[in-house]
Amino acid sequence: MLVILKRDNEEISREAAQLVAGAVRKKPALTLGLATGGTMTGVYKHLVQFHKQGLLDFSQVVTFNLDEYLGLAATHPQSFHYFMHEHFFQHVNVDPRNIHIPDGTVRGNFEQYCATYEDAIRKAGGIDLQILGIGRNGHIGFNEPTSSLGSRTRLKVLSQETIDDNAKFFAPSEESPRCAITMGIGTILEAKKIILLATGAAKATAVAKSIEGPIASAVSASALQLHPEVTFIVDEQAASQLTQRDYYRRVLEMTALLTPERMS
Ligand code: GLP
Repeated sequence: MLVILKRDNEEISREAAQLVAGAVRKKPALTLGLATGGTMTGVYKHLVQFHKQGLLDFSQVVTFNLDEYLGLAATHPQSFHYFMHEHFFQHVNVDPRNIHIPDGTVRGNFEQYCATYEDAIRKAGGIDLQILGIGRNGHIGFNEPTSSLGSRTRLKVLSQETIDDNAKFFAPSEESPRCAITMGIGTILEAKKIILLATGAAKATAVAKSIEGPIASAVSASALQLHPEVTFIVDEQAASQLTQRDYYRRVLEMTALLTPERMS
């Protein structure tokens, strides 16, 4: 596990965008796992900039988003479909046929729908690089506390904490979603490489538990400790409860020196 400590959101976004850009340049037909949320907007901003400057071509990239709210159509401004088009897809040249986002309007046989999503990931050769944010309760995707560490893409009931966190984005008259379709923790762990980004004091406890706590279903992101190629990129506030910060800095220096390919 690599822990990269940065000053603020801007530094984190740039670092993550550079890692994604490096991966796309190395493998133009990269299968990229994407996330939504405020933490991600800076990353997409930089990726869009690289593309507009002619430095990055997404024409062969295949994307899979982590999750979507159940009941929201792609046209709903709070849907993750909308978010992705707004912040990323409409500005770059990802082939629309290569974009995969769980369908929030699906009804009936959820299991079958989710199995189809997993199949599509498999057919694309698996996810090469997965980007993640983290919820205040340690969730990744919408894998709420007590999600099975082996879970696959499925319908998930949202925790009260997540519903409360998201309520502010919905009109007062509107009920915010209670469920979502999300890749499972098992699905996420199959990605070849994972980057998790966290900023701000509200994420400090979740970050400390994920990196330094025991692996537990109560903190979904702690399952990333099982993954051989995971990089946490964390700002000062989100890192404030980590006890081994000096060690992470030394590891990073030595890694850059001895195995620079691990850093790109
Ligand atoms: C939602 C998404 C997560 C994301 C989280 C954090 O819950 N399902 O994938 O990590 O939001 O969002 P933010 O970056 O806005 O704090």
